[in-house]
Amino acid sequence: MAETGTDISFARGLLQKGDLVAVPTETVYGLAGNALNVDTVARIFEVKNRPSFDPLIVHIYDYSQLSKYTMNIPAQAERLAKEFWPGPLTLLLKKRSIIPDLVTSGLDTVGIRCPKHAMTQNLLKTLDFPLAAPSANPFGFVSPTKAGHVTEQLGSKIKYVLDGGPCTIGIESTIVGFENNKTVVHRLGGISVEQIESVVGDVELTTSPGVLKAPGQLKSHYSPAKKMFVADIERAIEMVDLQRVALLSFQKDHKATHQVILSPTGDLTEAAKNLFDALRRLDKMPVDLIIAEFVPDEGIGRAINDRLRRASAK
Ligand code: TXA
Ligand code: MG
Repeated sequence: MAETGTDISFARGLLQKGDLVAVPTETVYGLAGNALNVDTVARIFEVKNRPSFDPLIVHIYDYSQLSKYTMNIPAQAERLAKEFWPGPLTLLLKKRSIIPDLVTSGLDTVGIRCPKHAMTQNLLKTLDFPLAAPSANPFGFVSPTKAGHVTEQLGSKIKYVLDGGPCTIGIESTIVGFENNKTVVHRLGGISVEQIESVVGDVELTTSPGVLKAPGQLKSHYSPAKKMFVADIERAIEMVDLQRVALLSFQKDHKATHQVILSPTGDLTEAAKNLFDALRRLDKMPVDLIIAEFVPDEGIGRAINDRLRRASAK
């Protein structure tokens, strides 16, 4: 069973040996390993039970390392990195050959970002390789935002979970690519579309569920084990047996036996931070069904709604 702790040198030692360590980031916990070691990368896919067509994100210490692993960096990418790194933004850039093809599932671009968490920054600064790190959950399931979430699901498969406390953003990084001078958002996430547009102007979105442009944009993802619907809660609760249903509401207290409220004050940032933990808690309630409602579709709320849509698309 994985040990959980705050021993950065122990984590560093394991990573240097080619082992995997779950590490905290501001978005979600990552299942990290040496991105330049093919055996380590293969083990990441295996532990996550992840199909090899779904590429991994590479984590670097800071902007100065970018040109070591990528090339032909567009001006928009540079501006976005300078504005939002370290932070929840992943850039899709042409990879250099030092990045193994297994990391990118054979694509010629690599997803790359600088995470904003002191412990993981400390690791990245002292390691002489970048870290490949998908979210530390079995493929298709809810992402982990606390050390305990990782242990619950992957504890038997890894040696160490570096505990950096609850993730402050709570939703994955925004993934942005560049095609024919256009900036394209491939996954909604911790940096809002509005924030991206404030730096590079209008962007295109290829994030609608079901339109499989990026390998990871699967319709069903981030899913709890229980059946889940997104609906108008007020109307839905008139039609169901409330003993058998758990509610996920944005702000309103429905006085139901089984419910989680994402943010009683109606704060989208707080709602994002609580989302995945809420889905896990709802999944454990003694009910047959989870009914959630959408949050306001603005800022990080768009990323929350995206996750709700995918979590309910079984
Ligand atoms: O916030 C995050 O990004 C977290 C933390 C740990 O950094 N990581 C994360 O990784 O969410 P993962 O593997 O769970 O999701 C990465 C997504 C996948 O949907 C994958 O398909 C997409 O990024 N991706 C990675 N490289 C890509 C590429 N070259 N082209 C298109 N999509 C890519
Ligand atoms: Mg993931």
